[in-house]
Amino acid sequence: MKSVVILISGRGSNMQALVEAGLPVAAVISNNPAAEGLTFARTRNIPARAIDHRAFSDRVAFDAALTEAMDAYKPDLIVLAGFMRILSEPFVDHYQGRLINIHPSLLPAFTGLDTHQRALDEGVKIHGCTVHFVTSQLDHGPIIIQAAVPVLADDTPATLAARVLAQEHRIYPQAVRWFLQGQIVLAGNHVEIKTAAGGQEVLYSPGIEL
Ligand code: GRF
Repeated sequence: MKSVVILISGRGSNMQALVEAGLPVAAVISNNPAAEGLTFARTRNIPARAIDHRAFSDRVAFDAALTEAMDAYKPDLIVLAGFMRILSEPFVDHYQGRLINIHPSLLPAFTGLDTHQRALDEGVKIHGCTVHFVTSQLDHGPIIIQAAVPVLADDTPATLAARVLAQEHRIYPQAVRWFLQGQIVLAGNHVEIKTAAGGQEVLYSPGIEL
């Protein structure tokens, strides 16, 4: 049985989508004891614990404690799902090639925070989300899968975020499934997906009414 550990900091809707997709989630860990997502995980009898980063003197000490807690589950894959912490280099190195993140933009556009507001400010016509391997450069790293959504004339950051989030919930389980089935080949900065259509089959957002 494969083992996936999910790190969250808040709501945990992506984590919930992964659990509901039937993926082998061994544990959910949060740096925030008040993260709503911990409650959901517990209702599903998934080990869920908080390791409060404020109890540690520095980032490396926190990351070391986190690593120890995660490694108890012998994870094949670490999934960051709204985990709002910058990761130290030793942490990223330790999990290289088995650490992935979801970001609410079509990377490399709009790294960092407030992506939906910034997309509206720039007047882009297409926005979306990206699942990528994590490297020590924030919101960079080899891209596994993306989904695009239209930006509509009357969008607010909230309406755009909701449209993107629906796609996050679709592509993140797909990426994790591909990973666990050995269908993701990482070569330098490029990812090859070993499906008939090379992963293209899920890039666009079906069912969006204009
Ligand atoms: C998502 O938009 C994700 O892309 C970003 O943080 C948000 C987390 O939402 N990294 P949730 O906690 O999964 O609901």
